[in-house]
Amino acid sequence: METTKKTIKSIILAAGKGTRMKSQTPKVLHKIFNKELLGYVIDAVNNTGKAEENYIIVGHCAQQVEDYVTKNYTNAKCRLQSPQLGTGHAAMQAYEDLKGFEGEVLILNGDIPLLTTETLNKFIEEHRKNTNALTVMSAILDDPTNYGRIVRDENGDLKAIVEEKDATEEQKKINEINTGAYLLDWPKVNEAFLSFDTNNAQHEYYLTDIVKWTINKGLKARSYILENNEESFGINSKKQLAEAAKILKNRVIDKLLDEGVTVVDPDTTYISPETQIEPDTIIYPCTYIEGKNKIGRDCKIGPFARLRGDVELGDGVKIGNFVEIKKTKIKDHTNVCHLSYVGDSMLGSNVNIGAGTITANYNHITKEKFKTVIDDNASTGSNSVIVAPAHIGENASIGAGSVISKDIEANALGLTRAPLKILKGWFDRIKI
Ligand code: UD1
Ligand code: CA
Repeated sequence: METTKKTIKSIILAAGKGTRMKSQTPKVLHKIFNKELLGYVIDAVNNTGKAEENYIIVGHCAQQVEDYVTKNYTNAKCRLQSPQLGTGHAAMQAYEDLKGFEGEVLILNGDIPLLTTETLNKFIEEHRKNTNALTVMSAILDDPTNYGRIVRDENGDLKAIVEEKDATEEQKKINEINTGAYLLDWPKVNEAFLSFDTNNAQHEYYLTDIVKWTINKGLKARSYILENNEESFGINSKKQLAEAAKILKNRVIDKLLDEGVTVVDPDTTYISPETQIEPDTIIYPCTYIEGKNKIGRDCKIGPFARLRGDVELGDGVKIGNFVEIKKTKIKDHTNVCHLSYVGDSMLGSNVNIGAGTITANYNHITKEKFKTVIDDNASTGSNSVIVAPAHIGENASIGAGSVISKDIEANALGLTRAPLKILKGWFDRIKI
């Protein structure tokens, strides 16, 4: 049994075109819950806590993908594959970077957003426990069409991966497939990369040839069979993107239900995986929660609410219908019950935000965003606009229909309102 923990470096293949997405956006930059597919894969790897560095192989729309990666990840570097001569050639682009590396190399496709950190951890543990030189992640599918098949010898030991286009009729019947994820003991198998050739039906360098190489060297290659097939689901079309989003959201909601959160109608509720919610909070139908959020206990959210990320709610907070909240911290027992927009704000506890209150946080000309701070026990009247930056003090009130463009001190009332005129007999005057 392996006791020493090795450091892992990953290679994530993301150079392919993704033609079937029919999009100007590169496939791996398509989003689920406002997060890129590639981001899901890098995060799954990073969250194992074992990854030192990730090499992202880019090709199609390379600059766009590289911009995304450099902006969001400090431990990921892009390597260009041009032209794209197959998966073996793709992984090869990180070969120089890995010269002399003593640890393990994890290779993954960049379009599998449903792969979990838990599964990756199990995969790594299995590899280490069995002291494999190479472990391939496989899955048993009812319909294995188009995938590489896992071919075993008479003893059931892994022998090779054969691509659909190279497979015999007999091999095509095999329903254990290659998911495209591999873990390599790098010092032992790195030379395999120098042996790849294009003697196959697609005239490409196949990464899958690594299996044969490892076995021919007398090294140990095994497969790790996925418990949950959907984790290897690769996105190739908009339809599959929508399917993956649904699987992901159901996974999140199932977990929240288990943890004691009430989700009244899971079918119409969308909650991102990076949202934490405490028990006894109720999420009403048609609520959409994306990005990273932290929601306390006994909150009521929706119906028809939208949290756009970086939202932190204390306990007993109410976010009602047709309310949008973004980048905002709200303390306990504050209500934002109807038709409001609250962005870039800090709300204290026991605040009451009247229907139709808007924090005007954005200057369209300078593109700047400004903050609104509302202290404990303050209240805003219906249909008021707070022009940020603004500070509404403790116990302060805002009169209905006001446009607030200055700070309101504690205990004060802020009011902007044209005087009410009453014209008596108006009805009789305009009647012909
Ligand atoms: C590959 C495997 C197959 C496996 C399947 C799982 C090979 C030869 N075959 O098939 O056994 O069942 O994945 O999905 O490896 N890519 C590059 N550069 C290239 C080619 C591909 O970066 O030159 C990237 C793609 O962007 C994608 C990944 O590699 O992320 C897999 O490529 P794809 O063409 O989808 O794989 P298949 O050949 O279908
Ligand atoms: Ca291919």
